Amino acid sequence: MEVLILLVWLTMASTELPNDLSHLEEFVDQKRFGIRKKYRPLYHISSPVGWLNNPSGFVFFKQQYHIFYQYHPYKGAWGSLHWGHAISENLVDWVHYPPTLIPKDMYDKHGCLSGSAIVHNGYLTLFYTGNVLSNNRTHQTQNIAISSDGIIFQKYLYNPVIRKAPFKITGFRNPKVWKFRNTWYMILGTVYEQRGVLVLYTSPDIFNWKFNTTLLRSYGDMGYMWENPDFFEVDGQYVLILSAQGIQPDVHRFKNFYQTGYVVGSFNYGTSQFEDVEISTATFNELDYGHDFYGAQTMQTLDGRRLLIAWLGMWENDFEESKAGWASMLTIVREVRMTFNGRLLMRPISELAELRTEVLESAWYTPGEAFQAGTKSFELLVNSTSVSHDAVLILEWGSSVRVQRYIIRYSSEFGSVSVDRGGTNGIRRADWAPVHQIFWHIFVDSSSIEVFCGDGEVVFSSRIYPKRSIRIRIAGEMELHITQYKLRRSVGYDEKLREYLRSNYLAKYNNDN
Ligand SMILES: *[C@@H]1O[C@H](CO)[C@@H](O)[C@H](O)[C@H]1NC(C)=O
Ligand SMILES: *[C@@H]1O[C@H](CO)[C@@H](O)[C@H](O)[C@H]1NC(C)=O
Ligand SMILES: *[C@@H]1O[C@H](CO)[C@@H](O)[C@H](O)[C@H]1NC(C)=O
Repeated sequence: MEVLILLVWLTMASTELPNDLSHLEEFVDQKRFGIRKKYRPLYHISSPVGWLNNPSGFVFFKQQYHIFYQYHPYKGAWGSLHWGHAISENLVDWVHYPPTLIPKDMYDKHGCLSGSAIVHNGYLTLFYTGNVLSNNRTHQTQNIAISSDGIIFQKYLYNPVIRKAPFKITGFRNPKVWKFRNTWYMILGTVYEQRGVLVLYTSPDIFNWKFNTTLLRSYGDMGYMWENPDFFEVDGQYVLILSAQGIQPDVHRFKNFYQTGYVVGSFNYGTSQFEDVEISTATFNELDYGHDFYGAQTMQTLDGRRLLIAWLGMWENDFEESKAGWASMLTIVREVRMTFNGRLLMRPISELAELRTEVLESAWYTPGEAFQAGTKSFELLVNSTSVSHDAVLILEWGSSVRVQRYIIRYSSEFGSVSVDRGGTNGIRRADWAPVHQIFWHIFVDSSSIEVFCGDGEVVFSSRIYPKRSIRIRIAGEMELHITQYKLRRSVGYDEKLREYLRSNYLAKYNNDN
């Protein structure tokens, strides 16, 4: 019976279009970057118009990489969530595609929340959380949408596939789905007795899910809600990524409003249990120490690399671009590795070298020297020859009356690296003890900065709002070698795609009706 339903539905999914293509029409007719460009990144994914937050599925399908993200197309602030979509062939050049999920069904009418994407039987399949508010209560269910072409998605006829949380709870969201041998696994973040919990479901076929076990729970210091789980094996170790709400700041740790971090252990597929995993603030490490980083997602490439992307944003922060009708961006894509002692490393993917158009600087600088960045979107490679003195690099802008700064500082005495973007709660700091030299790999894109230290032991991702052109100044006690590249635009609309959608999808839809 179920097989029959599935077959009928799959046949239908491949031939019929959803009966409401108004969002596609909107996308096709959108004015090309008709909104203000101030603060707009060139090579980070930001929404065409409207609000963006967490990545919601990162997957390779029919020779293309797909990124989905939480998206509210109607204003530059949070609102009922859709799934936005961008596609790339090389992980560098991204094209905006029409939104894939629209919150308009009974089980998702107040939001299609984040989840994950897989490829199954040749279909690109999305798992997401439907959000419904009624009588002042939140009801969250797990749902599926599917596509044969990776452009137009249809919601599963028998959604929701998980109607109720295992406990009497309100938050129950962000399905991360993967396959091992003949079983599908789904982990979800939730809450039990005011504490974050991670639950596991299993399925033989992606449609019928059974609650299996509670994998992990917070014993107090790990916050009141967990969300956006991600799980993978890399360099022989299992890594669980979580976003946690309610962890208290602890000197230099956990200084953002919410935290995204990881724990390392092993997973036993025979018993479906984590082994050697203690989760507490002693073992939970922040993935990125910057001011704006949340909801990380990963995928594995054909050549075996584990790639990660996250929201370069944070709840409760100000988004200065909001008034211009858009808000926020995703991070650049990073490659994840693990050291033998369980420290996660994040480096910019090597493909990003394709963004370089011109070498603007390449020289040794002594403390006190400075130069103009000359462009809003650039990359810096910064080296020292030793680690025995402090190294300081300052990005500054503004007038002589009011200079604003973003300061990167290595302290040889404390064995630490910090960034200071000014204002209250502006400093972020992490232990860092390079052995031979300082190496900072820095990406600036109009209103964002990502600083990768050494082999990626420490990363800081933050929004900055330079009101004038940036000057780069060397301070501290050490000479620094700086190479600066100008970077090009790599995210945008493809006019041919819009023409294709107009003639193939909208024309067909109009004929059918
Ligand atoms: C809904 O919840 C809010 C916040 O908990 C509360 O202030 C408000 O009175 C509630 N409204 C109703 C109709 O129960
Ligand atoms: C959970 O999964 C394991 C195998 O991974 C299985 O042995 C066990 O019976 C399952 N438990 C439930 C309650 O389904
Ligand atoms: C800077 O450091 C990186 C990483 O250690 C190295 O690959 C590069 O060759 C160094 N460049 C210079 C100019 O020293």
